[in-house]
Amino acid sequence: MVNIEIDGKIYSVPEGDNLLQACLSLGLDLPYFCWHPAMGSVGACRQCALIQYEDNPNPEAGDSHEQRGRIVMGCMTPVSEGMRISINDHRAEGFRGQVIEYLMTNHPHDCPVCEEGGECHLQDMTLMSSHTERRYQGKKRTHQNQYLGPFINHEMNRCIACYRCQRYYQDYAGGHDLQAMAAHNHVYFGRHEDGVLESEFSGNLVEVCPTGVFTDKTLSEHYSRKWDLQAAPSICVHCAVGCNTSPGERYGDLRRIVNRYHGQVNGYFLCDRGRFGYEFVNRSDRISLALQLQSSEQNKRLEIELTRSETRDQLAQFIAADKRLLGIGSPRATLESNFALRELVGATNYYTGMSAQEAELHQLALDILQQASVRIPTLKEVEQADVVLVLGEDVLNTSPRLALSLRQTAGNIGKKIAEKLRVPLWQDAAIREARQDKNTPIYLATLTSTGIDDVAAETFNGTPAAIARLGAAIAHAIDSSAPEIEGLSEHGMAMVQRIADTLNTAKNPLIISGTGCFSSAVLQAAANVAQALAGRVNEDTEQETDNGQINRTDFYLCLPESNSMGVTLLHSEAEQGGSIGAALQRVAAGEIDTVVVLENDLYRRGPSNEIEAIFNSAAKVVVLDHHLHESVAQADLVLPAGVFSEVEGTLVSSEGRAQRHFAVHIPKHDIRASWEWLSDMIALRKGSETPEWQHVDEVTEDCEKSVPALQGIVKAAPGEAFRISGQKINRQPHRYSGRTAMQADVSVSEVKQPEDADSALGFTMEGYAVAKPGVRPSALTPLYWSPGWNSNQSVGKFQQEINGPLQGGDPGVRLIVAAGVQRNEWYEVAGAEQQEQASADSKNGKWLLLPQHCIFASEELSALSPAVVERSPVHCVLLHPDDAAGLTVDDGDGVIIDCADRSIHLEVKIDQSSPSGSIGVPVGLAQTAGLVYLQRVQVKKDPDWQRRAEADVIVTDLSTANPGGRS
Ligand code: SF4
Ligand code: SF4
Ligand code: FES
Repeated sequence: MVNIEIDGKIYSVPEGDNLLQACLSLGLDLPYFCWHPAMGSVGACRQCALIQYEDNPNPEAGDSHEQRGRIVMGCMTPVSEGMRISINDHRAEGFRGQVIEYLMTNHPHDCPVCEEGGECHLQDMTLMSSHTERRYQGKKRTHQNQYLGPFINHEMNRCIACYRCQRYYQDYAGGHDLQAMAAHNHVYFGRHEDGVLESEFSGNLVEVCPTGVFTDKTLSEHYSRKWDLQAAPSICVHCAVGCNTSPGERYGDLRRIVNRYHGQVNGYFLCDRGRFGYEFVNRSDRISLALQLQSSEQNKRLEIELTRSETRDQLAQFIAADKRLLGIGSPRATLESNFALRELVGATNYYTGMSAQEAELHQLALDILQQASVRIPTLKEVEQADVVLVLGEDVLNTSPRLALSLRQTAGNIGKKIAEKLRVPLWQDAAIREARQDKNTPIYLATLTSTGIDDVAAETFNGTPAAIARLGAAIAHAIDSSAPEIEGLSEHGMAMVQRIADTLNTAKNPLIISGTGCFSSAVLQAAANVAQALAGRVNEDTEQETDNGQINRTDFYLCLPESNSMGVTLLHSEAEQGGSIGAALQRVAAGEIDTVVVLENDLYRRGPSNEIEAIFNSAAKVVVLDHHLHESVAQADLVLPAGVFSEVEGTLVSSEGRAQRHFAVHIPKHDIRASWEWLSDMIALRKGSETPEWQHVDEVTEDCEKSVPALQGIVKAAPGEAFRISGQKINRQPHRYSGRTAMQADVSVSEVKQPEDADSALGFTMEGYAVAKPGVRPSALTPLYWSPGWNSNQSVGKFQQEINGPLQGGDPGVRLIVAAGVQRNEWYEVAGAEQQEQASADSKNGKWLLLPQHCIFASEELSALSPAVVERSPVHCVLLHPDDAAGLTVDDGDGVIIDCADRSIHLEVKIDQSSPSGSIGVPVGLAQTAGLVYLQRVQVKKDPDWQRRAEADVIVTDLSTANPGGRS
């Protein structure tokens, strides 16, 4: 720390910061544009000017603080001991006022119609710089706007040329199709021509741009002023990374999702699936009332809407005390709902709702993490690694935000260079200049090429067996006691040695793997590498090596769904397997009368014949869910379940972090949290009039008490009883407007706002002042706002220091504690050999079925959102050129894949990186839902492909199978 004087007061600030960061960390107001907390400084906009006084004023010569100083840019000036500066000096203020007046000469001043208005950093900085009067009377330059796809609007006239968008898109996110073009007053930020932005992280432009150039197109479709949106702290439900979000609601519809800063997880950025995948919530075909389904005489399913008491009567029959129940849970439902189901049916009758393949992989992943002597890194820690090995996981498509972090890991090498050159770490342009095209070594071993190959030191594409063998061989090369892998080619051995050597010299190596390629052998191989690396030092994960460096091995396993880890932990001590197959055996054996399915389309989990067997064998089926799918159609009774924005609940991310999301708004019609339905059902079964639980807190507490592996979940966020100065925390900003008018159809007097019995948040704008950061727990902060800071940049006021943890600590509780003891046993990676055999068989006329994940199509809920559907690619199978030639197919032709339970017709894409003898089939489409990957299948050319394509008889995704849209 160093001491500096700011406007006559002494402050202690971190050494190495620049003045802008230091001032903002202290809570002082200093305007800026081009600096971004995650991207550092380039000194381009000149808005952060302040006065730095001379070090040694000479009062005898008439010098004083006020007289001798110079204008410096806060973002470009490092702090130093004894430095004296002024933000408020009239010369600094005057300079800043002139800069913004200049920046604004071409700005259209269209705030009343600008979608950024009210949440605009430019508005804030204009006022902060006291530029309140427009003097420029000349003509303004104008630009043409571009079509940039379904996610982003473009209004270039609002640009102030801060270059943040280009720096974010190209330098931070690795995009290639958005540039700065032309010069001077005509500089233009966009694509070379109209077209969809290619980056999977394009949505962050909306938050990075300080003006209204890039805005959220999905919000435009049902626009509401930002201050009229009701918000609550939430967690993204579209993968297992666990990014923190803030959804905004008006009139019962979700209008947008924005990033909610988390110092260890998502930082300032989301992926586009997470940001734009929310519109499934607003679909007009949501299940909003309980439905009784009956077969008609014509063998059609009839839906009868039920009142609450009729529903109760039905349930009373289906789950009466003498009925034998079985519950199938879900990795996309909250812990509370899964636990409530387990309580209803009994622990021995609860199944996690995963396929056998998924269940085995998840349990293995958990075992590995619990036994490992390594650290499970947060995304922030991922960005600090100095060598990375990814085994088998296409992270960009399975855990997208992790891929953005890996891009920053690649740039990490710049920090080392900067340290040598004594350049501060925030000097973005200088570090990039010094770094040139050097990257931190990242090795990617994946099924096919991936979207982050451009930052890889080396890539390897092969079958899961080949990847597992590569990984196991690397482990052996690092630690000779790990099992040896025989039969690798000379080229392969050389690669193994290169990777092992680089990992061996790393201070903080990181191994990433996951369930994405459906291979236990790959997971085991990754565990061996992590174990070998951890074994370089003693028993702890953080030890000094001979050369005095700290060694720490990080190990991150990607899981697929928002609560995959949660249900795996919930079930980890159960005696019976958790898979749907295990459940089926019970049902088929006639042991069960009623099956209760929680928020799970079982047809996405396994072959349709097996799933049908469950539904046909059970006397009654009750399904709780929020949208229509095939399993809903099989139910006798359907109960309308709330989605993440309607209910409170706890999810556990891949990192093992339990985090809570809160209801943003009151659900419509008869929609309730699944745990609430289940609470009533438990009471009914017991013959009690009182629900098992009144509040979600009680469920969370009971869950923690009964499941040792979930110790700590209660602390993920404060409970309902939490108050500040006796008040709840408001979901509505204090500027929220129109509350009386909104409900004028109900009453011309303002209707009483609904109560929230479940959380410490209120559906009001009254409550604990949003304007006082630091007192509210971070897990209960719906949005960031501070006086004078209406944009997302106000988050700085809520951080302990810029880019640091939120005040009071970042939300969530980490549940998985590694054993911390070096294992002596190694995985044999036996499955790899068997799969290799399978792969060899494929050369005799059968192809190995490999998964192909897609960020915009593979995940169930986001794939029901119109903008994401529009962004989804044409779905093709991937074939190696040799295999395509063997089948006499070319790009654009069709193939028929004969699996045990179905025939799949898909277009061909020839892909050089695709392993020979395999066929890459998209995950999660209507046609491919529930496919068992890594099986061998027959593939043949589809002679009728062109006719089929023209007749459009092929349903390629769930959204077209299940139409709906914005309500
Ligand atoms: S478009 Fe926005 S982010 Fe890009 S330069 Fe202009 S004002 Fe800055
Ligand atoms: S990475 Fe996953 S959790 Fe994060 S925003 Fe994207 S889909 Fe959501
Ligand atoms: S923020 Fe310092 S020059 Fe732009």
